Amino acid sequence: MNFLEERIVKDGIVKEGNILKVDSFLNHQMDIDLFNQMGEEFKRRFEGKPINKILTIEASGIGIACIVASHFHVPVVFAKKSQSINIDGDVYVAEVESFTHKCKNQVIVSKKFLDENDHVLIIDDFLANGCALQGLLSIVAQAGGTVEGIGIAVEKGFQQGGRIIRNFGYQLESLAIVEGMDAANGTVQFREQ
Ligand code: G4P
Ligand code: NA
Ligand code: NA
Repeated sequence: MNFLEERIVKDGIVKEGNILKVDSFLNHQMDIDLFNQMGEEFKRRFEGKPINKILTIEASGIGIACIVASHFHVPVVFAKKSQSINIDGDVYVAEVESFTHKCKNQVIVSKKFLDENDHVLIIDDFLANGCALQGLLSIVAQAGGTVEGIGIAVEKGFQQGGRIIRNFGYQLESLAIVEGMDAANGTVQFREQ
């Protein structure tokens, strides 16, 4: 097990409905030393890529993206969730459906902060069905930028997102891939990487 898998075993809580709660260290209270280890690991896995920007999505991707960015010495842009229908032409827009929350959001990024010169590393806390990630990929495509890679903290390997994104040919690196969870006895199985 790597450092993140060990932390999930120690402090993650398995809920009914295949939900893994990691809010004591990842997406509510945040362990910055852990985020720094994640940053070092992503730096290693994406070594040699000409990354000049990190892109994430609010809310819980932002904290991780910022600490990861301090290892790459590049700025972070986060896509904003917006329900507004009167969006002006100065933004890229993508539709993102949340299966967990049963709602649709538009996510937007200002055209000022992403263009064809950008070589982007996308960072997020969770990958499940991949809707959020597909929205971010659409936004980089609209900008004419290049996706150099995708770094995820926790991938739910039994949902479809990871397979879809890898089939597109992207370098997708997930620090922990959960293959199964058992709420009754609180156990988590990880994919061997
Ligand atoms: P998808 O983007 O991969 O399609 O994810 P999905 O719609 O299935 O999930 C919706 C939200 O729930 C996402 O956060 C995602 O990160 C989160 N999520 C999915 N599975 C789990 C889980 O097992 N544990 C936890 N803690 N979160 C999970 P969001 O609402 O879009 O963003 P945010 O505002 O929380 O950052
Ligand atoms: Na989340
Ligand atoms: Na997220």
